[in-house]
Amino acid sequence: MSKGLEDVVASTSAITFIDGVRGRLVYCGYDIADLSEHSNYEEVTYLLWHNRLPQRDELAAFTLELGARRRLPNGVMSSIDSLSLDCDTMDALEMAIASLGIYDEKELSRMETAQSIASKIGTIVAYIHRHKSGLHQLEAKEGTSFASDLLYLLTGKEPDAFSEKLMNVLLVLHADHELNASTFTARVVASTLSDMYSSVTAAVAALKGPLHGGANERVVEMVQQVGSPENVPEFLQKKLASKEKIMGFGHRVYKTLDPRAKILRSYAGRVASTSKEKNDLAILDALADEMIRQKGIYPNVDFYSGFVLQHLQVPTYLFTPLFAVGRTPGWLAHIMEQYSNNRIMRPIAEYTGSRDERYVPIELRGKINA
Ligand code: ACO
Repeated sequence: MSKGLEDVVASTSAITFIDGVRGRLVYCGYDIADLSEHSNYEEVTYLLWHNRLPQRDELAAFTLELGARRRLPNGVMSSIDSLSLDCDTMDALEMAIASLGIYDEKELSRMETAQSIASKIGTIVAYIHRHKSGLHQLEAKEGTSFASDLLYLLTGKEPDAFSEKLMNVLLVLHADHELNASTFTARVVASTLSDMYSSVTAAVAALKGPLHGGANERVVEMVQQVGSPENVPEFLQKKLASKEKIMGFGHRVYKTLDPRAKILRSYAGRVASTSKEKNDLAILDALADEMIRQKGIYPNVDFYSGFVLQHLQVPTYLFTPLFAVGRTPGWLAHIMEQYSNNRIMRPIAEYTGSRDERYVPIELRGKINA
């Protein structure tokens, strides 16, 4: 028995390779460092779904197809409109993806369904945000890139080229990560031959937890709590002494710095310009140094992503939903891979309970043994 399924090989996959010792992450053969620098959301999505990079005309056609699927069915919009303004954004996202399964176009192929979910999840997150904030809803645009439209729907402004690049970097770095908890969840649901909307809804539910995608919000809260880099050693000492987990650190697979955290740190350094940003980044760096020194535990992807999202004026409650937007192409790639070579996932448990209790009628319980 392996608690938490550590080191258990649960499936073959040709999508993502992780070298946890050297700190490498590779999508279909391509290193994440190259992809985040030179590629974008559309190209990486194509790569994950087709296992190869597209030719120029293929990428242009794919980008148009994704763009044409961004607008939400009326039923999904009214489901979100009916939510209370203080609803949890990840709960709202689960509900909205499930409702997309009800209201989306019928008789789409698997690839078209994947396109529809991946395109619409960005619009859904922005729609939830604008609903919660009492902002008027905007129409998704067709002819722009996914990253640009997402920023436009969130902020109401056309993004500049650098903000679009930054959003692409975030999306590309989050696009896939082998059998992490949410992707494994998606594959388990797909393995019952349930539909793609249900599989993605389940993945969103798994991502919500603070041990998975919910950590980036907690990192930002922690930075505010610490206040200044000098407070870091005492802050950490107290938390570690009380056996608390420090959010944004540690990983089941990486035994060194998460390569995504390394790339995000370099962008954080480039964008930090206000005194608050410089102070926050100094706190993050001090936390990273001190954790490595005291515990030998390194930052993961959630450590710097919140900082970069804050720079893009994204409110904290959207951090995990945007992680979901980024991870959706990966979830869908794994769901399609699962369907293509399926066997229902059904592990077994090592039973630790009793086996031979005698049934006692309720009126006699507590008396018979006295
Ligand atoms: N803070 C303090 N100690 C830690 C941390 C941490 N963040 N992470 C691991 N450790 C310690 C554990 O206490 C344990 O020590 P012990 O052997 O003395 O008991 C040891 O390192 C191994 O940790 P486990 O919890 O067994 O590692 P596991 O692989 O089960 O968990 C996880 C990995 C969930 C990511 C864990 O490191 C954690 O809780 N991190 C904080 C939450 C977080 O940042 N999650 C985002 C992960 S990335 C992602 O999902 C996108």
